[in-house]
Amino acid sequence: MDFLRQEAAALPPYQPFPSGAKVKLDMNENPFPLPEPVRRAACEIAARLDFARYGDSSATALRAALAAYAGVPPEMVFCGNGSDEIIHLLLTAFGGNGRRVIIPRPTFVTFRREAVLSGAELVEVPLAPDEGARPFALDIDRVLRLAAEKPSIVFIVNPNNPTGNLISPEDLLKVLTETESFLVVDEAYYEYAGVTLAKEVARHPRLAVLRTLSKAFGLAGLRLGYLIASPEVVAALDRVRLPFNVNTFTQSVARVAVENAHLFRPQVAALLAERDKLWAGLAALPGVRPFPTHTNFILFSVPKPPTEVWRRLFAAGILILDVSREPLLKSCLRVSTGSAEENAVFLKALATALA
Ligand SMILES: Cc1ncc(COP(=O)(O)O)c(C=O)c1O
Repeated sequence: MDFLRQEAAALPPYQPFPSGAKVKLDMNENPFPLPEPVRRAACEIAARLDFARYGDSSATALRAALAAYAGVPPEMVFCGNGSDEIIHLLLTAFGGNGRRVIIPRPTFVTFRREAVLSGAELVEVPLAPDEGARPFALDIDRVLRLAAEKPSIVFIVNPNNPTGNLISPEDLLKVLTETESFLVVDEAYYEYAGVTLAKEVARHPRLAVLRTLSKAFGLAGLRLGYLIASPEVVAALDRVRLPFNVNTFTQSVARVAVENAHLFRPQVAALLAERDKLWAGLAALPGVRPFPTHTNFILFSVPKPPTEVWRRLFAAGILILDVSREPLLKSCLRVSTGSAEENAVFLKALATALA
């Protein structure tokens, strides 16, 4: 098609994820129901909102709630229709022709797609292989060298998806102190890892921290991501976003959820306990090697072709993520922590699939 942009033509269409599985452990969602007061508030909001009217295009009340949660002023918060949209907007504003985008590989795939679409030069830095003392470690010196050459934006997911490991905050801050680059740290799994650079943003105007309500807050379908950034970065994103990018219902429900963050903490603790059991269950299977994780998911290698193992699990009604097309993850699969029952069903089916 000769009227399609070259950058768009270079991308494969978004692949819808397989559906219909009984046990869904592929997208790192929260398996628990919404805390009852939040669920009830969402129903009340749906009943009283005037859907005929456009909402607050600045999401003022929601930004104030997110700011209080993150410990920053509201003018340092930007909201998007999922953090996916914010990645797109960041690359619209700061990527493009003549810019370099540096990302580790493997990492969350949206960064690569959006960098390519923006027309920027994409530079992927392979993580360390899984054999060493620090599997999947980031070669920060290489990132620093690459980021010093040319106007760059560096995206680091911390802890990383799909590997689950943490990168030290001290290493990340070197991107700001030793280069002129813009650093975006994606903390989608912050509530599980408990490590954040949010407090550093006020000191470093070239730092931004990306978060989402799709994981620990259990609101993936609602679509709300937010960026903690300098007021200048927020203003730049306000230039390129669509006017009503976060709908009224999402604004109201997300606000209630964030104002009730304490109700989600027991869920986080319970899920981490389940994750540790799942990890031990994986480690007990012959030939299976789970990697250390600071998130609600686990990357693990299997002693049989992973895609075949994935297919057997899918046939048994269990959906996990096959990551084995990634050069560093040829023997690996990724599983999200589900409820105790889901994890038990998964472990049993995996044992059968490997038998
Ligand atoms: C690292 C990372 N960033 C962003 C996202 C997307 O989140 P959202 O639902 O807010 O678009 C995910 C979802 O899996 C993720 O793992």
